[in-house]
Amino acid sequence: MAPSRTESPWTSPPRHPRAEAGTGWYPVARSTDVGTTPRQVGAGGQAYVVLRLRPGAEVTALSARCPHRLVPLTAATVVDGRVECPYHGWQFNAEGRCVEIPSLGPVGAPPPRADLSTPWAVEERDGWVWLAPDPTPTSRPPRATSPVPEPVSALPQPAGPVLDNLHPALDRAWHPVALSGELLAGGWVQTRLLGRTWTVHRRPDGALDADPPAWAVAERLGVVWIAPAEPRTELIDVPELADPRTLSAWLPPVRSVTPAGPLADAFLDAAHRATAPSPEVTVPEPAYERGGFSAVQEQPGRRRVTHVYRAPFQLLRREEDLRTGAVTTVLRLLQPEDADSTRVHTCVLLSRPDGTADADALAAAVASAAAALAEDLALLPRLAGGGLPLLPRDELHVRADRLGVALRRTLADLVADCAAAERAAALEERATA
Ligand code: FES
Repeated sequence: MAPSRTESPWTSPPRHPRAEAGTGWYPVARSTDVGTTPRQVGAGGQAYVVLRLRPGAEVTALSARCPHRLVPLTAATVVDGRVECPYHGWQFNAEGRCVEIPSLGPVGAPPPRADLSTPWAVEERDGWVWLAPDPTPTSRPPRATSPVPEPVSALPQPAGPVLDNLHPALDRAWHPVALSGELLAGGWVQTRLLGRTWTVHRRPDGALDADPPAWAVAERLGVVWIAPAEPRTELIDVPELADPRTLSAWLPPVRSVTPAGPLADAFLDAAHRATAPSPEVTVPEPAYERGGFSAVQEQPGRRRVTHVYRAPFQLLRREEDLRTGAVTTVLRLLQPEDADSTRVHTCVLLSRPDGTADADALAAAVASAAAALAEDLALLPRLAGGGLPLLPRDELHVRADRLGVALRRTLADLVADCAAAERAAALEERATA
């Protein structure tokens, strides 16, 4: 295979502690172990996937993460001789060039930064696959009867902060911890939030308390909420609930091993169900509001889709048929229980101006919301990392990612705001000590 090289921000600086006899060549796998399923290997401290783009074809080596949302490319598949990332369908050729981004539509060109990096050279010799990450003094790998394969390198990590389920900034926010209907006889429920167990109980005066004590406990929208410390966020407003014509139903809460940040990102992500060839996925500019943002999009057929987001994990999607006035709303609330556990609360609300919303229509809307959620819950554990990267240049954003960018920006602001509040509180405590 011809040597090739492209630059990528995802690879670590080169380290070559075990280059075979100082040649710059690393044995990474037996030839017979490399097929059309990507296999993660390491060479010189850098992580790659190796695979064949057709059965029996020469070996291709590519950097191991998709530059878009850092998905490990061991989850990728080979489609028509290209490597396809399973999240948004970006496709890469043997040189690492990104040749397809479905959300850009048929005429959109992938930006150069979407390319994967490749090692300087890949060779098969004596039944082994060898990689040379950088230019080497020898153009072929050495002859070796029983080389020891290079250890698999860890995937490169984001350079900037990552918001996971136990991030300290989440203490200063409102979180859903149970549906009101989950309160047990006597008015109490035990729940997990931010890696801690909380018992919520109703006092004789009807108000709710938490043990251990929280800054506030509230009951709104049919949900029990806890703010562990003074919140820097707002509770989401759902005006549909004030309309007596609205029918609503909560899906049974479900649990995901995916952190809340990537789950929120998937809810806002219009592109992860796009497939080529299809028109460009258009996403409106979000309007930033206190504690979040909203985005309104007029669609063909006199339809309007509105997304509302409130930090950290309150999301709403409203679809309006402007001809009939029918409105279908999905409210998604995420409870960051533990590092690897998020509880997902979903409410479906249906409003028809002529009062035709009935139990059958509601059941159909609930089934549709449950199917979309099940699809995300099946997909994300294979793809999402330990949280949401907050530094914009740690991922590669395209036009369809506007709401995901706004999500990251709002959460980064929350983290900065909470850090400032912590510093101010510490100063005040020192001054009064
Ligand atoms: S296409 Fe790979 S994460 Fe989006």
